[in-house]
Amino acid sequence: MYQLSGVTKRYRRGKATVDALAGVDLIIEDGGRLVIQGPTGGGKSTLLQMLGGLDRPTAGTVELDGVDLARLSEARLTKVRAQNIGFVFQSFNLIPTLTAQENVETALVPLGVKAAARRERAAEVLASVGLGERLSHLPGEMSGGQQQRVAIARALVKRPKVLLADEPTGNLDESMRDEIVELLEGLWKEYGLTFVMVTHDSAIARRAPRLATIRKGKVAIADNVDA
Ligand SMILES: Nc1ncnc2c1ncn2[C@@H]1O[C@H](COP(=O)(O)OP(=O)(O)OP(=O)(O)O)[C@@H](O)[C@H]1O
Ligand SMILES: [Mg+2]
Repeated sequence: MYQLSGVTKRYRRGKATVDALAGVDLIIEDGGRLVIQGPTGGGKSTLLQMLGGLDRPTAGTVELDGVDLARLSEARLTKVRAQNIGFVFQSFNLIPTLTAQENVETALVPLGVKAAARRERAAEVLASVGLGERLSHLPGEMSGGQQQRVAIARALVKRPKVLLADEPTGNLDESMRDEIVELLEGLWKEYGLTFVMVTHDSAIARRAPRLATIRKGKVAIADNVDA
């Protein structure tokens, strides 16, 4: 479970300061699915970075299962990320010179998984995202939707507790978008993930059981009884 209390992130630009997050309190239950919306510059990506331990708040606490990510040493934080948190971004961030299989395997290297087990687990999760036939393709030999599937496989191969996605369909055309969202929602159920997704797509937001809207660093939560 995530428990955020008074999370503030202040950026300085010369003499000006911006509170990208301005005192955010938020609880996300294990296995929950939260969709985040809001205007550009509202603080969505900043919040996701706090949840993922990619950055630290200026003030406040970001607890994951009772451990405050804001106070962990860099080494412990890196370990928490490597074991527990999968990320998917708008830009797929694949390594262009590595095959689909090798890209997915990279997530297991910091966990000390042996080469044979890495190969097996990567192939398995690539099959589960529908890319069983594309293991030896390079990113440049795949469509955008396929590349994002590789990125999703890379995020999930470590069997994380949490999946964080920042506009994962932002670079895809409409038909691909629906496919990727359906895939993510299916994986959320299948793996019992805690799933937080930033999206501009209001059709996705309407289907979300819980919707957070972030404006000027402040979060408002709405529960959707129809979803
Ligand atoms: N590294 C940084 N240095 C200075 N200001 C930053 C930095 N990162 C973000 N900001 C500022 O913090 C605010 C929130 O940014 P953030 O990226 O979280 O917005 P967002 O909601 O994800 O927007 P978008 O929809 O455009 O992705 C913005 O005003 C942005 O300019
Ligand atoms: Mg953003």
